[in-house]
Amino acid sequence: MKFKIIFLLAFIAIFFPTCTSDVYNPDVCFQENILPIFVSKCSMNGCHNSSDHEGGFDLTNYDGIMEGISPNHPLQSEIYNEIKGNDPSMPVGQKLDPMDVTYIKIWIKMGAKNSSNCSSCDTTNYAYSGRVKPLMTNWCVGCHNSSNAGGGFNLSSYSGVTASISGNKLIGSLDHLAGFSAMPKNTNKLSDCDINAVKKWVNGGFPNN
Ligand code: HEC
Repeated sequence: MKFKIIFLLAFIAIFFPTCTSDVYNPDVCFQENILPIFVSKCSMNGCHNSSDHEGGFDLTNYDGIMEGISPNHPLQSEIYNEIKGNDPSMPVGQKLDPMDVTYIKIWIKMGAKNSSNCSSCDTTNYAYSGRVKPLMTNWCVGCHNSSNAGGGFNLSSYSGVTASISGNKLIGSLDHLAGFSAMPKNTNKLSDCDINAVKKWVNGGFPNN
């Protein structure tokens, strides 16, 4: 009898290791992976920010986002139901990247925590392609692309990013200095780690590396 049970357990362990659900990435972090999606894709003028509050939602901070989230239950979360599937109702106009939708689902499944500083700061990586471009894609391109170039800047390309360096606009806006529009718009400053990476790249002559 005992032998049979052990055999059965071994069988389950070998043949059904992932049968409970999708494979989840344990590294998903609210501040680094989730907040930027909402800020960059949902909080532009007229949408879900603290002044426009479209549909009653301010998606520029954790508390506002949680009004549409049921922790551990993506399918009971209003926000997830709006963005999922082939024909999502949100965001209006521009669909989220499927990867973004997956990240949000994983984050909800894992309890929708307000997690931050999940990865340690890599101070040696400040190349354009490896660091600056992903940062722009994550935090900025939703409002700075070819069809919607906030302030006239399309930050989806190298030339667009370098255009924003002149007059200290890029760093001035990231540092929230007086005389510049604070960026990313509608939310807090980026982490020191992220801002320092952009500064190092700019001060190093902003190579297209
Ligand atoms: C929610 C939309 C939104 C997001 C996200 C956003 N921007 Fe902007 N950005 C704008 C708008 C709109 C303007 C035009 C000025 C204004 O309305 O504040 C602007 C202006 C700027 C300017 C010109 C600033 C100046 O003082 O002239 C820079 C540089 C800039 N953004 C960089 C960034 C960077 C870098 C990020 C990401 C870290 C970012 N933005 C994220 C909407 C956004």
